[in-house]
Amino acid sequence: MRTFDTLADLRAALHDFPARTLVPTMGNLHAGHLGLVARGRELGAPVVASIFVNRLQFGPNEDFDRYPRTLERDAALLAQAGCTFLFAPKETEMYPEPQTFCVRPDPALAGILDGAARPGHFEGVATVVMKLFAMVQPTAAVFGKKDYQQLMLIRRMVTQFALPIAISGLDTVRDTDGLALSSRNAYLTPAQRAQAPQLQAALQSLAKSASGAYSSQDVLALESQAMRDMTARGWAPDYLTVRRRHDLLAPGADDLRERTPLVALGAARLGATRLIDNLEC
Ligand code: PAF
Repeated sequence: MRTFDTLADLRAALHDFPARTLVPTMGNLHAGHLGLVARGRELGAPVVASIFVNRLQFGPNEDFDRYPRTLERDAALLAQAGCTFLFAPKETEMYPEPQTFCVRPDPALAGILDGAARPGHFEGVATVVMKLFAMVQPTAAVFGKKDYQQLMLIRRMVTQFALPIAISGLDTVRDTDGLALSSRNAYLTPAQRAQAPQLQAALQSLAKSASGAYSSQDVLALESQAMRDMTARGWAPDYLTVRRRHDLLAPGADDLRERTPLVALGAARLGATRLIDNLEC
């Protein structure tokens, strides 16, 4: 694997590879990220992983400063996983001047759920992903389904800007107790780590009860109950909700009757750590 921290060197190296698959990450890699690389390799083109902790997608009181930066270990894992190139730009390379041109995603998608809880987050994500697309010029890119709303937003961005990039979404990789792998799991104390699978369990039980719902009011009542249950267990939930997969809006009676594909999504804080997860149902 060859590693670059400047755009000029990356571009020179990529010159001979017309097809390439991007796996964008913020580093501190785990088996979920390596799964994205494995999917990238299946697509046949060289895999370019990027590692960049993107300040633009963090709110002022979020964990940008303490986000784990483990470049050496990450590079070794990527090399073992058969990644072809690693692009790990410094902040001055990614943003040599303040990024005053930004991608403003549709608020109907970016202003709800995680976008409501983290104002500006998805604008930061869309802007850096667009910039990575411009830098790497991939023919394909792979993202995890754990960040369900992010994946959806990137798919729409690619469609609306007619970018010639095939987006692949990969199922969430989980620990044996069901906890979705996430770099932020490293913040959990042992007691919190033992409790953390409750988020996926709550989504499973919400999805199950919602499958018997007849109206949007039924679903809202189930969501409120799920939020109360999580709060009673010591979590501070932002949302636990069931939405239509295709637009992340609340299902109406027609959707429930016609079995429109749904997804249960949750975000909740355990102590200072905010975890997200989802379940297609
Ligand atoms: O999912 C992530 O790790 C980040 O949001 C991404 C896509 C690498 C953009 O910074």
